[in-house]
Amino acid sequence: MIQSGRAKLAGLVGWPVSHSRSPRLHGYWLRHHKVDGAYVPLPIRPEAFTQGLRMLAAFGFRGVNVTLPHKEAALAACDEIDDQARRLGAANTIAMKDGRLEGSNTDAFGFLENLIQGAPGWRADETAAVVIGAGGAARAVVAALLDAAVPEIRLVNRTRSRAETVAQELGGPLRVVDWADRARVLSQAGLLVNTTSLGMVGQPPLDLDLSELPRTAAVNDIVYTPLETPLLAQAAMRGNRVVDGLGMLLHQARPGFEAWFGVKPEVTDELRRFVMSD
Ligand code: ATR
Repeated sequence: MIQSGRAKLAGLVGWPVSHSRSPRLHGYWLRHHKVDGAYVPLPIRPEAFTQGLRMLAAFGFRGVNVTLPHKEAALAACDEIDDQARRLGAANTIAMKDGRLEGSNTDAFGFLENLIQGAPGWRADETAAVVIGAGGAARAVVAALLDAAVPEIRLVNRTRSRAETVAQELGGPLRVVDWADRARVLSQAGLLVNTTSLGMVGQPPLDLDLSELPRTAAVNDIVYTPLETPLLAQAAMRGNRVVDGLGMLLHQARPGFEAWFGVKPEVTDELRRFVMSD
């Protein structure tokens, strides 16, 4: 699709952004839905972030996605913040309307939609979930599971104090578990989620013995390079349902695309193949 003079504009702000798959993802949807628009990578240094956002709004941009290291700074830069962004202390999506910046966070939405699509039999309210990690991604995952009414969340992190901070800030039925007990705590769980970078290309695998995990449990890794992490390979071998991390990236992008370009996009197998194929 060739843009006209009326093309709707959006993009990704981050530093750096060259590794991101978001331009490819939004570019696919723009072509698929024949939208007169463009989604461009926008590398912005931290010191120029707020000014850069204001300039994009002045240029008529409809909005942006926000990635590292700006997600926290985006809260202060926006005129309005939705409840989820405030709760998570970070915004990943900004809508620009008449010069005003409206920040939101769609990571929890993306996580849950991916899980529902990838493990349709999983019932949130029936069993405990085990979440590994306590960074920004873990907060979004925990918030999503709390909203889905998971009865118990066991939060395991190498640095216990970070998990305690997440538990204090998000509240709910959260139990902080020592790193040394990460294998034992899998007993009777219905879901296991890795939110750490362990298992990513160039990182060591997550060292976790799955023998206590029920074979009915779903296992989700938010790492998507590679799509099949050592954790997912190990889980699939013993018969667990596995959900890779690519879908979280794809689903978290849906609300922004709809707000900026006016079309509800879908996550399909063809999209998954396209986004991973470069
Ligand atoms: P993000 O915001 O992307 O989630 P982060 O804040 O850097 O990233 O968090 C990374 C997570 O991976 C943390 O839970 C971290 O554990 P610590 O809080 O103990 O640092 C976890 N992590 C990273 N490398 C790890 C390793 N080698 N072993 C165990 N956990 C690790």
